[in-house]
Amino acid sequence: MNIRTFDQEKELNTTGAELIASLLQSKPKAVLGLATGSSPVGIYNELIDMYNRGLVSFASASSFNLDEYVGLPVNHPESYRSFMNEKLFNHVDIKLENTHVPDGNAPDLDAECAHYEQLLNDHGPVDLQILGIGHNGHIGFNEPGVSLTGSTHVVDLKEETLKANARFFPSIEDVPKQAMTMGVASILKAKQIVLVARGEDKAEIIRTALTGPITTECPASLLQCHPNVTVLLDRGAGRFL
Ligand code: GLP
Repeated sequence: MNIRTFDQEKELNTTGAELIASLLQSKPKAVLGLATGSSPVGIYNELIDMYNRGLVSFASASSFNLDEYVGLPVNHPESYRSFMNEKLFNHVDIKLENTHVPDGNAPDLDAECAHYEQLLNDHGPVDLQILGIGHNGHIGFNEPGVSLTGSTHVVDLKEETLKANARFFPSIEDVPKQAMTMGVASILKAKQIVLVARGEDKAEIIRTALTGPITTECPASLLQCHPNVTVLLDRGAGRFL
């Protein structure tokens, strides 16, 4: 694992954006694995800036997002489709038909999971997967537990995840209780993974995930098994390493 800790947010964001930009320069048809949450936003902003300066193009690229809430209207401001459109897709030249986010409103959720996994297999492997990490060690929405699921599936969100995500909704009751997520095997198939974490509140789980035992009780610890992981941390998230 290549673990990098940055004093300056700007430097972290630029480093993450340059990893994606250099991939797109060498492979314009790259398949990007994208994440929501606050951690990647600075990287997306930096990519938009690079695009505006003519340094990167997404015109031939495609993307797959990790997850989506179940039952939240797709045009709801907190749906992950809205998030991606607003934070990245609407500002660069990626073709919307080449962007994929699981459909959390599909009439048959299991069929949608199978369909998404099939799309990943047909288009993949993902060349570069951006990941955040939950306070409980979740990646995508793969919550800790006695077992994990390999492929795309529907998940019941843990109380701590509902609480963490309540900041985006009027109240915790408004947070969808279920989500659809790529599984850990789908995530680990990516050729390269870039894990991003910011803030002192992530320091403990970053230490556990990167230096603790590999266990389903901390899904992010499985990243220790992957041959090409870069971890980008701010000073706060990296303070226990
Ligand atoms: C959500 C997402 C995860 C993300 C996590 C952390 O639960 N499903 O993919 O990594 O939040 O978000 P943040 O980066 O805002 O801390």
